[in-house]
Amino acid sequence: MLDLKRANNTPLEETRQGEVLDIATEDIQASKNLYIESYGCQMNFSDSEIVASILAERGYKTVNDFSEADAIFINTCAIRENAEQRVRNRLKEFGAAKRAKPGLIVGVLGCMAERLKAKFLEEEKLVDIVVGPDAYRNLPNLIAEVQAGDRAVNVLLSREETYADISPIRLNSNGVTAFISIMRGCDNMCSFCVVPFTRGRERSRDPKSILKEAQDLFDAGYREVTLLGQNVDSYKYEGSEETGDAGQTVNFAQLLTMVAELNPLLRVRFSTSHPKDITDEVLYSMRDHDNICKYIHLPVQSGNSRVLKLMNRTYDREWYLERVDAIRRIIPECGISADIITGFCTETEADHQDTLSIMDEVKYDFAYMFAYSERPGTLAARKYEDDVPEEVKKRRLTEVVEKQREHSLYRIQNFVGKVHHVLIEGFSKRSDQDYCGRNDQNTMLVFPVDPRYKVGDYVKVLGESCTSATLIGRIID
Ligand code: SAH
Ligand code: SF4
Ligand code: F3S
Repeated sequence: MLDLKRANNTPLEETRQGEVLDIATEDIQASKNLYIESYGCQMNFSDSEIVASILAERGYKTVNDFSEADAIFINTCAIRENAEQRVRNRLKEFGAAKRAKPGLIVGVLGCMAERLKAKFLEEEKLVDIVVGPDAYRNLPNLIAEVQAGDRAVNVLLSREETYADISPIRLNSNGVTAFISIMRGCDNMCSFCVVPFTRGRERSRDPKSILKEAQDLFDAGYREVTLLGQNVDSYKYEGSEETGDAGQTVNFAQLLTMVAELNPLLRVRFSTSHPKDITDEVLYSMRDHDNICKYIHLPVQSGNSRVLKLMNRTYDREWYLERVDAIRRIIPECGISADIITGFCTETEADHQDTLSIMDEVKYDFAYMFAYSERPGTLAARKYEDDVPEEVKKRRLTEVVEKQREHSLYRIQNFVGKVHHVLIEGFSKRSDQDYCGRNDQNTMLVFPVDPRYKVGDYVKVLGESCTSATLIGRIID
């Protein structure tokens, strides 16, 4: 998946209408402070940049400290129960801020907003606005409604919205790497997954707007873009009379090639690939372009074909391993990572062993691993019993995590003694005497600052030693 770095109740309080009305009489052009916090996948982080852009046009500038904010937005994730619990806990803190600062607007964006809809307003009395992922253009109107004394909801999903024309405001940016959303929604209906319900139908963004965004980023000094979608391999743009490009179709391999060919100094990454859809054409495009990073996130979820069928993943163990073989054949140096779920409905000990054994076969560079968490409304919640006891899910998860630790170490140790092509992304978290940046395979390297090179430059780094997650090295000429 996309990187689930941070996934995610509230004091009872009525909307303070009197105070809210006071704000409505303020000059709406006046500069206001927006604080926006994101949870969940990279799509959400990318959406927050769209929201910041939409609100910047209405005079909101983003701040890093919520105590300075006139409006707080929390962009939420609904993928697992604990993601939602984190949001509720955070809302408690915002509730306290709201009591201290009457008129402060608190809005909930994203997948949890979409899942709970107006119910959110009943459950969380301090929340003023609930907005789903396809309704962000409507935010200024919703804010105006709140300023007029109402609470506001817009959770309409769209078949067309791609925010193609909106130029995101980069938040917490290192000025070197950025995300570009190339599509929205998902049509896959994996039985465990809430995303099709929270993000709606799959739609692909106009390639012209993607290329323009990539070029603008390059011109602004960025050197790496990650093309984002829940299933990038099913990207398919179809031109129309309306857009003046009737008859034109672009698939993911073609899009990837076009972005890579903008400039050899612009690195290209992408996420997420679905094993059923990733084509050899994509792999050949990767092989043929030095600036497409040799790294594929290919979630397996389970190593057992029966469980995969129940998950509605539409591939089996053999298919998955064939795709891994194709990657190794066409791009031998390619890094591969996965998402894995333990304890899905009906998973037996033998099924779990199949997950461990597929891990042994692939030896992932990296993995995101989760215990199954039933999500209301999903196919699995409706059709299957969540019958693996919590402690069994957790124990299996521990085994999977342990195995991955070994494999990550194995992969990273193989990088020691080799020379890596690294884009300097910034200073290491621990010391401003060291730079950090990733190699082609997405492994983080840390190496001493060399004054001849600056952030945003490419360097060759010799890997000299490693921890389980970081390669330590030095720049060589
Ligand atoms: N579109 C991506 C995944 C997005 S969700 C893909 O198809 O791979 C990210 C990951 O969260 C999933 O790959 C899955 O491993 C995990 N996940 C999703 N729903 C889950 C659930 N109900 N319980 C546990 N993990 C889940
Ligand atoms: Fe969820 Fe499956 Fe779509 Fe990924 S492909 S977002 S796991 S339904
Ligand atoms: Fe992403 Fe979480 Fe939504 S993983 S798509 S933010 S449910």
